[in-house]
Amino acid sequence: MLTDENKVKLRSLILEIFPKECLIDLYKLTRNQSVSTNQKRDLIFKILDKYQIEHEPIGSGTNRYSALIDGYIVKFAIDSDGLIDNMREFKYSMQLQPNVIKVYECLPDGLLSVSEYVELMSMDEFSNRKTVEMMKEILESYANNYFIGDVGINAKNYTNWGWRKNTKRELVILDFAYIYSTSFKNFRCQCDKKSIMFYDDKFDNLICPTCGRTWSFDDIRRRISKDDQWEEIGNIEEQGYVMHHPEEIKNFNNQFSFRFEKEDTKVKKKKKPISFFMRTAEDDKY
Ligand SMILES: Nc1ncnc2c1ncn2[C@@H]1O[C@H](COP(=O)(O)OP(=O)(O)O)[C@@H](O)[C@H]1O
Ligand SMILES: [Mg+2]
Ligand SMILES: [Zn+2]
Repeated sequence: MLTDENKVKLRSLILEIFPKECLIDLYKLTRNQSVSTNQKRDLIFKILDKYQIEHEPIGSGTNRYSALIDGYIVKFAIDSDGLIDNMREFKYSMQLQPNVIKVYECLPDGLLSVSEYVELMSMDEFSNRKTVEMMKEILESYANNYFIGDVGINAKNYTNWGWRKNTKRELVILDFAYIYSTSFKNFRCQCDKKSIMFYDDKFDNLICPTCGRTWSFDDIRRRISKDDQWEEIGNIEEQGYVMHHPEEIKNFNNQFSFRFEKEDTKVKKKKKPISFFMRTAEDDKY
């Protein structure tokens, strides 16, 4: 029999804040291919206004927009790649701790994800020698199991790094959507199926040890089909708690919980804190 210690109270920010009609509007926008990405950003904010969802614009990337809502970062997928990106970050966030943002929640189709809010890195900090060493150390520590694109030592990548707002001010990757398992078949060079690529010294591109060819992450990505991506991600509803209400008591599952820090945060939560657990909100409503 389960005691209270085996139970955990969870909050779904998505179910609490986003009415079903709002998710439908957002989903239609994501799927709309005749609107430019810039227009999509404005339209997302219009939709949020329509449903009176308080938000602060944060930043835009290639496939997602971020806004600060109730003290958390909500990433909105603006196209089909953005959907996959949100799911990937949800899937890998826990196993990559402590040097990536914690992704707490994700809709099963990737439309929205909720994660911790971190301080953005400045260009100056990104070029600082000590920071470069720390970033290399982090990427090196992941390199046995994963390659992560768009976070290597290249000026174009500084917007994908930040600092955790805790007393230790830990260095974190805030966009790690281009993460791939090193065992993924696409990391074998075309010259020889057995030739596994490795990072260059800036962790920016990949090099084939056999023919010496340099591959960018864009080259690799182009070789990965959508089907391969879906297959790799699997069903994320099996990888977190599934929520049907804004608050639920669930049986504790240690596979879905972030194990460290909790109190050590400087972020002021305006409202109820989110428990440090992974969860997916149901999305079969639209
Ligand atoms: N956890 C976060 N904390 C603070 N800002 C963030 C966070 N996540 C993303 N952002 C901001 O939003 C921008 C876009 O998000 P990102 O995840 O990089 O999207 P994309 O995958 O489309 O590049 C980032 O460049 C950054 O400015
Ligand atoms: Mg980015
Ligand atoms: Zn080769």
